[in-house]
This record gives sequence, C-alpha cells and structure tokens, in this order.
Amino acid sequence: MESVLVRGRVAEVAWTHSRERPPVTLAAADSYLSHTRASRGLKDHGESVHMGTTVRPDTTAVTATDSLGIHDNRTSKSYTIPVSDGAIRAVDLRPIRASERDFGLMSYDPAFMNTASCRSAITYIDGDAGILRYRGYPIEQLAEKASFLEVAYLLRHGELPTQSEYDRWMHDITYHTYVHENVKRFLEGFRYDAHPMSMLASSVAAMSAFYPEAKDIFDPQQRYVSIIRLLAKLPTLAAFCYRHSKGLPFVYPDNDLPYSANFLSMIARMSEPRYEASPAFVRAIEVLFILHADHEQNCSTNAVRAVGSSHVDPFSAVASGILALYGPLHGGANEQVLRMIEAIGHPKNVPSFIEEVKGGKGQRLMGFGHRVYKSYDPRAKIVKQLADEVFKVTGRDKDLEIALELERIALADDYFVSRKLYPNVDFYTGLIYRAMKFPTDFFTVLFAVARTAGWLAQWEEMLLDKEQKIARPRQIYVGHAERPYVSQLDYAKKVSKF
Ligand code: CMC
Repeated sequence: MESVLVRGRVAEVAWTHSRERPPVTLAAADSYLSHTRASRGLKDHGESVHMGTTVRPDTTAVTATDSLGIHDNRTSKSYTIPVSDGAIRAVDLRPIRASERDFGLMSYDPAFMNTASCRSAITYIDGDAGILRYRGYPIEQLAEKASFLEVAYLLRHGELPTQSEYDRWMHDITYHTYVHENVKRFLEGFRYDAHPMSMLASSVAAMSAFYPEAKDIFDPQQRYVSIIRLLAKLPTLAAFCYRHSKGLPFVYPDNDLPYSANFLSMIARMSEPRYEASPAFVRAIEVLFILHADHEQNCSTNAVRAVGSSHVDPFSAVASGILALYGPLHGGANEQVLRMIEAIGHPKNVPSFIEEVKGGKGQRLMGFGHRVYKSYDPRAKIVKQLADEVFKVTGRDKDLEIALELERIALADDYFVSRKLYPNVDFYTGLIYRAMKFPTDFFTVLFAVARTAGWLAQWEEMLLDKEQKIARPRQIYVGHAERPYVSQLDYAKKVSKF
C-alpha cells in the first residue's frame, strides 16, 4: 500500500512494498537526467538548480519557501523540490530513488487529471468561477464585439490586430480559400453516407500531400502560410463534405463575401448568382465559432500538441485534432445531445429519462458536465441567448422545449447539483445548428472549423517552446515478467500461412 501524507509543506511518501519496474540501468537513467538538465540549462553535478532553488537529497528540515519537502520512508532521505506556479516538475521526482538500480520516482496520472503538460499564454479558464478568456479578453466581450477572424488573429499573435494587420490577415485568408481541384475527386470517392468528420479529417490530412513545403515547420514564413491555408480552407473543405453527403454540386468560395457568409454560401447556394445568408445566421456562426475557437488543453488540443511534437507538418497535426474531436465525449457531444433529445421525444418523458441517467442504466445526460467547469460553462450562457435570437427567425420547436425541461429538472436535482454537472457549450449549440437546418452529423464539423484557430495557436506555441520535446509519457508496466516463447500453433499450418 502506498500513501501520501501532507503535513504543512512536507509530503511524506510511505512505501510498504517495492514495485517492480521495467529494468532500466542506472547509466541510462543518469544519461536521461543529464540530458534533461542540459536541455533546461541546468548544472549537472549531483544537484539541479532550478529557478533559484535547489533539488538535492536533504536530511534537514524544510525551511525554504516555494518548495516542497518530501521524506522518503523507504530510504529515510528527505528532498526539497521547487514549487513554481503551484506546480512541481515531475522530473524533479526522478532523483528520489529507493536503491541504486531504481529508475527514480514517477508520478502516475491517468487522463492527466492533475498534470500540466505545458506553459501556455493563450487561454485562461477558471472552472469553479466559470471564467474563460482568450489572451486575457473575457469570452463574453469577444463574443459580443469581435469577429471570428479577429479572434483567430488574437489567438495566434497574442494581441488584437491593428486595422492594417487585420486587413492583411483577412486578405491572406480570403486569397487561400480555394482548394486544389483534385480534392473534389478525392472527396467523391467517399460513399454517400460517409460521416462528414471522417471526410474532413481525411481531406485535411491529405492537404499535407498537396503542400509538402509545410514540413518546413521552423521556417516562420512556411508556418504562416500553413496557418493561413488551414484557416482559409477548412470552411471550404467542410462545405464540400456537406455537399457530397447531400449529393449536391460543390460550390466554390465567393471571395467577395466575409468568412462566415462565404461559408454559408458554400453550404446553401443553389442556382442563385449570389447567396445571401440571413444576418441572424451569419451572426450565429460568428459567435459559435468564437466560442469554440480555443479551450486550452482539451483532448483534441492535446492531440494536436502531442502529434505536432513529433515535428510533423501542421495539416497532419490538425487532422489528428479533428479525429480526437470526433469522439462523443468531446466535440461529438453536440451531435449526441440532439440524438438524445430526439429519443426523449416529448417534454413529458424528461423525468423518466433523468431517472434512467441517475440509475446509470441509460446514457449520460449529454451536454452536461465538464472536466474543468464545475459551475455553469460561460459559453453555454452565451449560446442560450444566441438560441433565442435564432429561434426568433426560425420559430421554437418541440426539441427546444425538451432541452429547457431537461435543464430545469437537472439543475434542481441533487444528483447533478452534488456532482456539479451543469450545461456545457454543447447543450444548446446542436439546437441552433438544427434550427439553421444543418444535419446532425455535421455539428462537430462546425466545431472543428472553429477550433482550428485554437489548434494552430497551440501548435505553434508548442513548437516554439524550448522546454517542449516529443510527447512521450512513461508507463507503469503491469504485464508479465520475462517468459520463454513456446508456440501454441501447429508449426506446419503456421508455415503454410506465409
Ligand atoms: N450525466 C450523468 N452523469 C454524469 C455526467 C453526465 N453528463 N457527467 C458526469 N457524470 C457523473 C459520473 O457518472 C460520475 O459520477 P460518480 O462519481 O457517481 O461515478 C461523476 O459525474 C464524475 O464524472 P466523470 O466522468 O468522472 O467526470 P469527467 O470530468 O471525467 O468527465 C465529461 C467530463 C465531459 C466527459 C462528462 O461530464 C460527460 O461524459 N459529459 C457528457 C458528454 C458531454 O457533454 N461532453 C461535452 C464536453 S464539453 C465540450 C468538449 O469538451 O468538447
């Protein structure tokens, strides 16, 4: 049994049995540590100096501030580890060893429940207070006053654009909205019922074959062009996926239209020379794109950073983000909310549905709960208001009534209240998209178009962060110890197979 007792600043780690670790030689561990120290610009003579504090075996009492004292009951040694920004560096645990052969202490954190993987200056979330800010600007103000491309600029550059910076950004993005003609043929290869997220992810991954120069990720100009291309072409690719699903001819970008109006034109235009989208719909797309543009280290952003850390081109990294977003616990949730509401069928069925959720027999209440927000998701508040504006144009429907009833009952129920389960951004977005006549399986595509802005900002931040390396977690091996290979197969048959 292992326990961690925290007394004041001193954490005591007690081990009552030794754990089996993968055989790692001391030389290998030392070489790793030396390398790590060197890459962090630290000294390498038995102690590491970090941010003005010292990590070393220490049998004296802990007196330093901004540090953590650890007493290892296995060896009776004490250690002082620097605390910076409320965190210790996991690698600073490595010198804590039970024996010479020991690899060193690791932290075990499945699903990154308490592990920061990077330092980031892009998005700030306070989950308890329901705060979301991009580069310091409150999401409420950006949603009300900014345009999506302004927010994309802010995320990437760190500051709001001046007029001339914005004009150039808009010009460059507009200039790159077209995709290579072969992309159309590529998309036509998909069956009529292919999920648009699979099509989108595949076509974004295929972009890396169209732009091989994007591999030159340490050339700032190449990075800029790739970022511009991704922001510019995502709406085109998304709209092409939609048109393919519907069996409709692809509509080329109309570069005289602003970003969201152009997107809606590529989705909905038929024989008219110019498609004029409802201003309420254009506004809804802009706001929803802003709300979805970034959300710090969520599953798909983590995927983009991890895949990008191998120094692959940004098209491939963003494709991995799209695939991570596809999952029903992440961006796929807005699609699941609609399917859940359709299955409930009528507001009168809501109480029995809630009971099923609480009993753990049915599905979860989709669109509720969040790993970070333990109060109302600030985006959900904005989306709810936006839904009112869109429904003024389209009219309210039964599904909205069901959603309102679900929210009303869940927010008064101790099961949800005690677990701090509140509506998240996906709870109402699906209803808005449906009112705008987007098919249900297209909702996550809309999320992906918006999140591309955040993925790219996070990808570039990761790439330029000198502390980052290829993402490669450790594991605790729990499988067999070495055992001899004894085939269970009929040797004659096995050979005939090959
Ligand atoms: N309905 C019913 N119970 C829930 C729900 C829910 N939506 N979410 C969490 N719980 C319960 C869960 O069963 C557990 O209860 P207990 O402690 O009794 O076992 C407790 O709440 C904690 O849940 P968890 O799974 O440990 O929490 P998590 O932080 O790992 O999961 C979540 C976060 C978003 C995956 C989860 O709340 C969920 O599955 N929600 C529904 C899917 C959804 O709406 N996802 C969109 C997330 S926001 C947009 C995005 O990220 O893309």
